Amino acid sequence: RPKVTIPVLRNMMEQGQKITMLTAYDYPLALLEEQAGVDIILVGDSLGMTVYGMDSTLPVTLDMMINHAKAVRKGAPTAFVIGDMPYMTYQVSPQEAIRNAGRLMAEASVDAVKMEGGEEMASTIKAVVDATIPVMGHIGLTPQSISQLGGFKAQGRDAASAEKLMRDAKAVEEAGAFALLVEAVPPPVLEEITRRASIPVISLGSGKHAHGQLLIVHDILGFFDRFVPKFVKQYANLNSTIQEALKQYVKEVREGIFPEDQYTYSMKPEELAEFKK
Ligand code: KIV
Ligand code: NA
Repeated sequence: RPKVTIPVLRNMMEQGQKITMLTAYDYPLALLEEQAGVDIILVGDSLGMTVYGMDSTLPVTLDMMINHAKAVRKGAPTAFVIGDMPYMTYQVSPQEAIRNAGRLMAEASVDAVKMEGGEEMASTIKAVVDATIPVMGHIGLTPQSISQLGGFKAQGRDAASAEKLMRDAKAVEEAGAFALLVEAVPPPVLEEITRRASIPVISLGSGKHAHGQLLIVHDILGFFDRFVPKFVKQYANLNSTIQEALKQYVKEVREGIFPEDQYTYSMKPEELAEFKK
């Protein structure tokens, strides 16, 4: 397929074609997602939790993100690849945000970066966009604010916070973001954000009323179940498939079944005879 670009995504929005988005953190999954035709791949800082076993996304560093984004880029040359900006790489100042987003773009060849935050982040988003770097906004449940939010909780469930989300969405769009991710808000709130938006809106756990959908790939594959949010639909159970294979391997080694002859190399009979002399 031709490379997915910002104009392609905008066109999909205008034609009412749903945009598909998943996370990926490494080469093999990126390859599979590219083959499956996923439009946008997010190298999310959720990798801190799904791949590194951290309790939150806060300890994830820019160097970690760059390394993982490089691997995803290799596996997914035509997907639109977005690199997540980790905690405190863009909050301190617009200058630092530009420098760090620039490293993700230049060193990992991603197509865009993603930043959490609404009104408060608008001037930073504008500065980064002005520096030639496309930005996806991210509002609603923003995991880097977990301490302020008091946990991984749905947002916008009362009228005042739903109104705040309307202002956030508007501010992010006006700052020049090319798209907006909305995480864990009730469907009526997402619907109103989408109705007012003129950039693609992607839903994560916020219902159908968006131009596209995102889920975390480890969640949909059943490959991470330390906790499973309400909005996750599991399309496979890799944990049990892998666990079965691992147990079988352990059993066969212990019982001397593995490796059977077919998994070993042969020697020519004359070489063997010479060797055994
Ligand atoms: O890091 C991530 O995967 C994300 C999604 C949860 C939106 O930011
Ligand atoms: Na993230």
